[in-house]
This record gives sequence, structure tokens and C-alpha cells, in this order.
Amino acid sequence: MSATDWWQRGIIYHIYPRSFQDSNADGVGDLAGIRRRLDYLGWLGVDALWISPIYPSPMTDFGYDVSDYCDIDPLFGTLAEFDALVKAVKARGLKLVLDLVPNHTSDRHPWFVESRTNRHNAKRDWYIWRDPGPGGGAPNNWLSNFGGSAWEFDRATGQYFYHAFLKEQPDLNWRNREVRDAIYDVMRFWLERGVDGFRVDVIWHLMKDAGFRDNPPNPAYQQGRPEIERLLQLHSADQPEVHGVIAEMRRLIERYPGRVLIGEIYLPLDRLVRYYGEDLSGAHLPFNFQLIQAGWNARTLASMIKEYEAALPNGGWPNWVLGNHDQHRVATRIGPQQARVAAMLLLTLRGTPTLYYGDEIGMEDVPIPTGSARDPWQLREPGLGVGRDPQRTPMQWDDSANAGFTTGTPWLPLSSNYAKCNVEKLAASEGSILRLYRDLIDLRHRFPALSTGGFRLLTEGGDILAYERFDENECFEVYLNLSREVQRLDEKVSSRAPPEKRTLMLSTHGRRESDFHAPRRSLEGGEGVIYKMRR
Ligand code: GLC
Repeated sequence: MSATDWWQRGIIYHIYPRSFQDSNADGVGDLAGIRRRLDYLGWLGVDALWISPIYPSPMTDFGYDVSDYCDIDPLFGTLAEFDALVKAVKARGLKLVLDLVPNHTSDRHPWFVESRTNRHNAKRDWYIWRDPGPGGGAPNNWLSNFGGSAWEFDRATGQYFYHAFLKEQPDLNWRNREVRDAIYDVMRFWLERGVDGFRVDVIWHLMKDAGFRDNPPNPAYQQGRPEIERLLQLHSADQPEVHGVIAEMRRLIERYPGRVLIGEIYLPLDRLVRYYGEDLSGAHLPFNFQLIQAGWNARTLASMIKEYEAALPNGGWPNWVLGNHDQHRVATRIGPQQARVAAMLLLTLRGTPTLYYGDEIGMEDVPIPTGSARDPWQLREPGLGVGRDPQRTPMQWDDSANAGFTTGTPWLPLSSNYAKCNVEKLAASEGSILRLYRDLIDLRHRFPALSTGGFRLLTEGGDILAYERFDENECFEVYLNLSREVQRLDEKVSSRAPPEKRTLMLSTHGRRESDFHAPRRSLEGGEGVIYKMRR
């Protein structure tokens, strides 16, 4: 087997720091809290942590509005605390990936404060300033991802500035050389401090059309959907020049051996895979969100996996993401039973898996009472179901007050089910989703066939998704029942080996006595199994 990097073999665990573990009773999670929970992550078996932004920020978009790229927000701790975390992470052989937010800053970042003082200051061109359009209004029709125009008029200087998200998040001008160099300095700052790479926020947004042409209307727009969908984002993002910028980031990263560049990209498959870059000069891992977006049935998943595998450039390493802080939780999207199937799928597919904190205990979206919403998107476009608070609620550690997350008042409400659904309880309960996750992670680590090995689909239709994972030493077959009904196993499955050769390694439903005596002929509704094939 060829040598692989940790980010190919490993499993990434995404922490939303506000909600993981509070250590100072202010109701918001922090770095010391993460450090306290490293034992748990070691027990679970994940390899790398990606932490959403922890930099100084007015928190209008909860850290994705950065006012200083080279420090830690006091809510989360200090640089000394960060260094302690890096040390503790490394001591356990884990990796630490930071969130880099280069597309925009906070409007309170000193760069923007200077930029808006007058039209002639040295930082004016660091942001995207335009004269009013012919009628005196916005320079073009581009929309903010959180609703409304993407242009904000600045009375003092008589120009508009562009913001793809909130007006408190002005976009940096990546056509400006100084901006690029300033962000590359930021990257070096954290790489020198020992971080193992970056997840780059909205990387496909960095470059906009040089001519600022209007975006065309979206003919498929439906009433009741977010306003951003009224237009096709043809000119405001995913411009060809972006690949040059990413290649620069990649070259910088390459100077630090073993570091990874991950890109957040929401684009259709053909455009997504371009982010591997010409001759793999782009992101190591352009995040693949198809498991979040796909219809949850065997046929759709099979063709999606097939198309993704076929679309990957030569040498491009696949990856799969099951959830994140912007998407409804997997257990809410597909139900608790299929959430187990999803876990088995994520952890047996070819490519790097990313899982979102709390999904391993089956956390669901938590309803947020009207009036208690915190997410700015929800506040700007209420009633559409775009709010992201429900998937950002505190981690449920045990059945004590506030689930052991904080001794203060949690910044978002806890799920009402935390007495039953928490780490302590599920870790002790055989057959729990948490034990399933741990067993899957363990199996993936023990057998490289499951992570870096080959992949072959065994089904095209029906209700069972089946595939083979193999290397020169081992061969596994994975069968996932995407339906609620019992399904016969051997129909429509083009297995290469007879059932007698199968040893059951893991089932989402736990093993039954009979499994030790005879090969299974059927799967329960919502059951997934992994077989190891005897030669
Ligand atoms: C990314 C983040 C999201 C944030 C947005 C603006 O999509 O994941 O949480 O609101 O960028 O920075």
C-alpha cells in the first residue's frame, strides 16, 4: 500500500467551540473546556479536531466575523491557553485544524475601520468599494447570503461596500496583493504555533467577477425559500481566478510538512472537483457535502457515490461530511434509525470522514423558542427554517444540570432529552449509537482496507446499498438497509464471494446469537452490517 497522510487515513471531528464544554461558567464553551474533553475524544478514537473560529470577534456571526486574526477571543481563552491545547492535542497524537476566514473580516477589524475613513487611505482597496449604480442605488443586484442587498452604503465616503454575508462582515478584496500577503502572514502565524492545517471558510467566494456583472435570475426559485436563491450566483462567486489564489495558499501550506488545506465549498459536483486544482495544486480536501444534500435512499446514494468517484481528478483524495454547524443534524434529517446507517456509511466509505460533535450520540435539532433565536440568518429571515441555532446547542455530557456543559446559563437551550441522550449514559450502554460510532472508528483504524483501500459498488437499485472495501490483505462487504422493512440480502447484490465466506464484524443493531452460527439472509429495517470476507 502506498504511504498515506494522516488527513487521508484519519477521521475529522468538528467542534463548535461555543457549545462543546464551558470551563468558566459563562455559558459559552471555551478552549480549556475542549482540553478537558480530550480524554473523551481519545476514547472515541477520532484523529483530528477542527474548531470553528476562536479569534477575537464581535460575534455577530458567532466568530465568522473576525476582528483580529492573530489572537484568541477572551470568551474562548488566551493564546497561552491555545498553546496548552496544541500541546495536549499533540501529546495524544491528535491533530488540530483551525477555521480560517479569509473572505471577509468583521467591520470592526482595524483594516476595515481604516478602509472606511476616506477614499484615499492605504487600506481603501483592501475591501470592495464601488460607486453607486446609475440610478444612485446599489452597484449591482448581488444579494447577501443572509438576505437583502449585498451592498451597504457608506454615507461618509459616498460609496457602497460589498458583503456576501452580514453588513458587519465586509468582503476583503482578494485582487489586492497586500490582502493576500496579510492573510498568508496569518496562516504562517498559526502554522508556526503548531496547527495542522485549515478549514477555509467559503473558499469559493474569494474571487468575484472583475466587471461586477449582475447575477441572472434563478428560474427555479420558489417562494418561501431564502432570498439568496432568487439569483444564480454566477458572477459573485466561483470565478476562475480563485484557483490561482488557492494554489498560493497550497504552496504556503506545502512548506510545512504534514499540514492540510480543506475548503468549504457548496457547488455542484463538476465545479466542486475543480477545487482540487490543476495538477492537484488546490485544496487537499474540498469538502464534499453530498451526504447532507442527497435524498436518503439506496439508489440516490449509489449513483452519488459512483459519480463522485468518477469525477475525482487523478490522485484527488475523496472526503465525506455528514453534518456541520450550518446544517440540520443528521438524526433530524433522516431520523434516529437511519442516523446509525449514516454513521456506518460515513465510516466505511473511501475518503476522509468528517463528523460533527454530538452526532455520535444521536443529538437532534433542538427547537428554539420564538424570541430566543441567536443566529443572525434566522433573525434576518424568520419563518423560513434557515435558523442554525437548533444544530448548535450544547454537547450533552451527562445527566447533571445543563448536561455537564456549564454551571452557568447556557448560551443556547439544551435538548430536553439530555437525561437519556448523553455521553456518560450511552458510553455505558451496549448497542448505543455512541458505542456503534466507537466500534466503527476502531474497525476503520484496524483495517486500512476500510479507509484507504479500494471501493466497489455491489448494488445499483433496490433498498440495500452494498459495496466492497478491499486492499491486498482484507476484503469487507458493507450492506445498508435504507428502508424500514426487512430486506433479503442476496437479491440484486453482485457479491464476489458466497455467504459462507462472510464473518459479521459489526451491525447497527448489535449482534445476535444466531449470527455466530449462520450467515444472514436478510437485514432488519434500517440495519447496516459489515462483513469481513474469509479467503
Ligand atoms: C460559512 C460558515 C458559516 C458562516 C459563513 C459566513 O459558511 O460555515 O457558519 O455564517 O461562512 O462566514
